[in-house]
Amino acid sequence: MVASAFKSPWPRLGFGVGLRAEHYDDVLGGPPRADWFEAISENYVGTGGRPLDVLERVRRDRPVALHGVALSIGSAHPLDRGYLADLAALVERIQPALVTDHLCWTGVDGRSLYDLLPLPYDEPTLAHVADRVRRVQDVLGRRILLENPSTYLAFRHSTISEWDFLAALAERADCGILLDVNNVYVSAHNLGFDPLAYLDAMPAPRVAQIHLAGFTDMGTYLFDTHSAPVHEDVWRLYRYTIARLGPVPTLIEWDADIPAFGRLLEEMERAGREAARAETQTAEEIRDDIEGRTAAGPARAATLARGARAASEAV
Ligand SMILES: [Fe+2]
Repeated sequence: MVASAFKSPWPRLGFGVGLRAEHYDDVLGGPPRADWFEAISENYVGTGGRPLDVLERVRRDRPVALHGVALSIGSAHPLDRGYLADLAALVERIQPALVTDHLCWTGVDGRSLYDLLPLPYDEPTLAHVADRVRRVQDVLGRRILLENPSTYLAFRHSTISEWDFLAALAERADCGILLDVNNVYVSAHNLGFDPLAYLDAMPAPRVAQIHLAGFTDMGTYLFDTHSAPVHEDVWRLYRYTIARLGPVPTLIEWDADIPAFGRLLEEMERAGREAARAETQTAEEIRDDIEGRTAAGPARAATLARGARAASEAV
């Protein structure tokens, strides 16, 4: 049950899936079966050919979000002006509903490590990243969203929690938040914090999109592989999120062991059902479910215990 009548300033997109080359023929072969699609920006910037043609055809029928992995907003090195110019051109061409990237850094000295690396969360980093977000938004002429990463270590000298850092960054830079509920779960497990504390800190006016995905349990930690269905615990956190924030546009990410398009759509349709179910519950009822007043509790307690052990071994 949505607690407030808050009117979001962001587009109401509904339920979508990531646009992947494996599904191009399915997506173009009939009427759109998703409300919207998310395309990885780097697959389309500074290039042409079939991928861009497909993206433009998809965009004619449905809203598209551009989701980047190369902005490196947290890097200490200068913003890549060439990349930003290419991204601005793609934004102009596609007119996406949302432009997003990650709260991370990805390399040094012009060399990419092809990974989304974590930042220390402290005041100097907050000021640094907020300044860079504002400059990116000036170049693009629009607000962007930043996504919470999956994390496997924490910096000892961090002075701010990730959730408070992200909320403060959104306010200071006047940007939005792409809240990946699976990443919250994975990071909570790996670092030993309470995922509900994270979700409670998310400011409703700033959360413009939600990601859901599946992870791989590596035994000693959870690995954000995007290779599996959404975990049942993550569905519970998703319902809690929707009950708190309202109908935020939601997207299923599935990037490895990619299933048939129909299976991907089934996962998206479940997101619709879970969101509708959240409309019939209060956030407090869902919290009770998660915190162990029902059968869900022991699993979460075990999850947090494992996470606490993992955090004690963190950097
Ligand atoms: Fe994500």
